[in-house]
Amino acid sequence: MFEHIEPYPGDPILSLNEDFQKDPRAHKINLSIGIYFDDAGRIPVLESVRSAEARVLAASGPKSYLPMEGAANFRSAVQTLLFGAGHEAVTSGRIATIQSVGSSGGLKVGADFIARFFPGSQVWVSDPTWDNHRAMFEGAGLTVNTYPYYDAGDARASPPRPAGGLNFDAMVATLRTLPPKSIVLLHACCHNPTGVDLTPAQWDALIPVLRERELLPYLDLAYQGFGDGIEADARAARALASAGLSLFIANSFSKSMSVYGERCGALSVVCADAQQADNVLGQLKFTVRRNYSSPPIHGGQLVATVLGDPTLRDQWEGELAAMRERILAMRRALHDALVANSPGRDFGYLLSQRGMFSYTGLTPSQVDRLREQHAVYLVRSGRLCVAGLNSGNVQAAAQALSET
Ligand SMILES: Cc1ncc(COP(=O)(O)O)c(C=O)c1O
Repeated sequence: MFEHIEPYPGDPILSLNEDFQKDPRAHKINLSIGIYFDDAGRIPVLESVRSAEARVLAASGPKSYLPMEGAANFRSAVQTLLFGAGHEAVTSGRIATIQSVGSSGGLKVGADFIARFFPGSQVWVSDPTWDNHRAMFEGAGLTVNTYPYYDAGDARASPPRPAGGLNFDAMVATLRTLPPKSIVLLHACCHNPTGVDLTPAQWDALIPVLRERELLPYLDLAYQGFGDGIEADARAARALASAGLSLFIANSFSKSMSVYGERCGALSVVCADAQQADNVLGQLKFTVRRNYSSPPIHGGQLVATVLGDPTLRDQWEGELAAMRERILAMRRALHDALVANSPGRDFGYLLSQRGMFSYTGLTPSQVDRLREQHAVYLVRSGRLCVAGLNSGNVQAAAQALSET
């Protein structure tokens, strides 16, 4: 029966993480997986989440099914976190939000919804993007294309452009050619894998393009609070909604609350009015019903408890700020060590990029050498997870990078 089934080559990032776990070298450094580690190299358990968990367990009753769309307190807390309590899109009820199995689950439910209700539309993702974006949209039967994004630099341009920025003009030029109702996947902040984000002014310049071309933005907000802060990182979503655009947004709590394995995220669809949002919510529920029926309870209640209690919320904001600041400190430490090792070379991209990742520009064979000779693990695209650096390994990582 199963002779025709070919072996799964494995997910490039998750396989690398498995190889890291098996590597016997004591000095190994994992800068591959997209997980935030603290300065001791551990995945933190946030105190705000620990307190919320004690409350959730103390109050826990019979474990019935949640509704298909998830828990009401979680869904409304998500809308407030994303858009702000007084945002017109929230108060007018024109956002359909479901709790999802991680934001991956939300992204896929949204992709299935698009495949069903926008059958002629194709999806456009940044070049490069998180590998799983392509996999999930193609998995839903959609055609996935790329728009220019990362600027690898051009020494011959005048003035010469250093690597590590955004090729905004080329991005917009491509978006201007897309047919109406094309889906444009955008990283709301902390672009994965490059760390290169649009500035607020660039977001504002993008809005008329999206409107004029009748494009449907699909935001991925997996790192809210890891860039410039909770509110600043939600700016793009708020600006697009305020401009009256319809949009999708998948958001995650995996990183911002360090609850990876709880698989907790959401999908929100901002519509023109409450009636549309009602219909969209109904069809999202139907999509969920045909997939996994309803989301799990626990992670959503941890998140809703933290967001719903002013003391826990304050504590969480402090803990999130500490994670963000540690990443920034590691960016600076790596930058300074690289400059010290290779004077005259420009590593400024490490300081201007945001979030957990930076693109190093290393080729796959250099990444292989780094792993084989120095036990430093990066993704083969050259993506480096800054959140895997700490005060104990950053100098060694910089030394290995300089020697590669
Ligand atoms: C850009 C991006 N989107 C979505 C996700 C999915 O996160 P989760 O499914 O854990 O919420 C990730 C995780 O690495 C990511 O980097």
